[in-house]
Amino acid sequence: MPFTKTKYFIQTIGCQMNSYDSSLYEDILQQHGMIPASTSQEADFIIINTCAVRDKSVQKAASAIGRIHHRKVKKPSILLCVVGCASDLLAKLSHHNAIDYLHGALNSTQVDSDFLLFLKEQGFSSDSTPSFTPTQTHPKELSKYIPIIFGCDSFCTYCIVPYVRGREKSRPVNAILRDVEQSLQEGVKEIILLGQNVNCYGKDLHPSILFSELLDQVSSNPDIQRLDFLTSHPREFNKDLLEIVRRHNTIVKRFHFPVQHGDNEILKKMKRGYTAEEYLEKISWIRSYFPHASITTDVIVGFPGETTLAFDNTLALMEQVRFDSVFGAVYSPRPGTKAATFDNHVSPMISKDRLNILLTTQKRIAKTNLQRFLHQTCKVFVLHTSGQKGIGKTWEDRLIQFPLPSTSIPQPGDIVHVSVDCVQNFTLQGQLVHF
Ligand code: SAM
Ligand code: SF4
Ligand code: F3S
Repeated sequence: MPFTKTKYFIQTIGCQMNSYDSSLYEDILQQHGMIPASTSQEADFIIINTCAVRDKSVQKAASAIGRIHHRKVKKPSILLCVVGCASDLLAKLSHHNAIDYLHGALNSTQVDSDFLLFLKEQGFSSDSTPSFTPTQTHPKELSKYIPIIFGCDSFCTYCIVPYVRGREKSRPVNAILRDVEQSLQEGVKEIILLGQNVNCYGKDLHPSILFSELLDQVSSNPDIQRLDFLTSHPREFNKDLLEIVRRHNTIVKRFHFPVQHGDNEILKKMKRGYTAEEYLEKISWIRSYFPHASITTDVIVGFPGETTLAFDNTLALMEQVRFDSVFGAVYSPRPGTKAATFDNHVSPMISKDRLNILLTTQKRIAKTNLQRFLHQTCKVFVLHTSGQKGIGKTWEDRLIQFPLPSTSIPQPGDIVHVSVDCVQNFTLQGQLVHF
């Protein structure tokens, strides 16, 4: 029979959707009287929330499971739960008998009833009084992820997400508005709406509704300080969204706009549903609405059939768009996806070289891009204050540091204005203007 002070540790690999799922597990563990451990070694109840997007992420979870397997030999009472997008893949690996509970991605705002049953079987009860003191709980949350649409129907040929997260399913508007309201009442200041493709939100609802309409409704809550959303698919991105972003000054002016590639042949083989020219046109819309907006992207190098010329087209697109940040990754063949069956796989060495070229190019561009903020006054969401220094993020999602005044110190979650006087290590530096 476990005692009430069982310590838990959750390792989250993967995207924001997984972070959201982990927060659901965490709430349940706390409701069952468990307390957070600072490391996995200290914990007797471990959840590994896994990602399948690349082989590297699966291997990361496999190593973590291997380490816990070894610990379990000496201490069999340790409980290991493997959940998330790669759980099926991991169940086939060698340490699978160390796993006490296995479950895929949640795609819901609740943990599965299976998990509650598992906790009960292990002797945990939800009415046990939480035995931790307030100092052991998490610091007050400033930001909250709120999923608006689960799954993905795009089936880009390289991507495993539709297989592990299932079909698109929009949450009802009222449920989202209720979550937003509740989070704000709990003291949350920033809401981040989540979906693999937020622009597809609402197509499956009756009556249907556009993502921009949902964003408008969420924005009408006067208690929101900062409103963010991820991810926009370039195929469905439209001007009505830009209109709503312009209407509400709480909405961030950073567009995460994954291009994946700059070559039309490859884009077609990826089944992205746009050409480089169409993508560039949408970039010009964003720039015409918000000249200072940040535009960030994801790029895959070494997709099957990527010639030197095709890769050069990606570099040329990067020079044209001048992204503020790029998440670059080497193509990783995923089991069950269409691209894994394609010919002309690019060698790992060539892919790695291309990734290095891409990242070097991006570093140069990002550094120059930051100069646009010099001598500008930025609206800043305060993240931390320590000693004499404050750190925040601008509405263009750039990190910014500023010295704190001796009195009337801004608090995390406050909005301040900072005049930028230099850039150091990709971080803006400036002075508080008024607060
Ligand atoms: N839904 C978003 C979109 O459409 O751009 C992205 C979701 S995916 C979870 C995050 C990123 O992982 C993708 O943008 C892509 O660049 C990368 N990715 C997905 N499958 C990959 C693969 N097989 N190999 C390498 N990178 C991959
Ligand atoms: Fe994957 Fe494409 Fe769906 Fe994004 S839109 S999750 S890249 S299938
Ligand atoms: Fe996210 Fe990885 Fe799953 S990127 S949706 S956790 S496969």
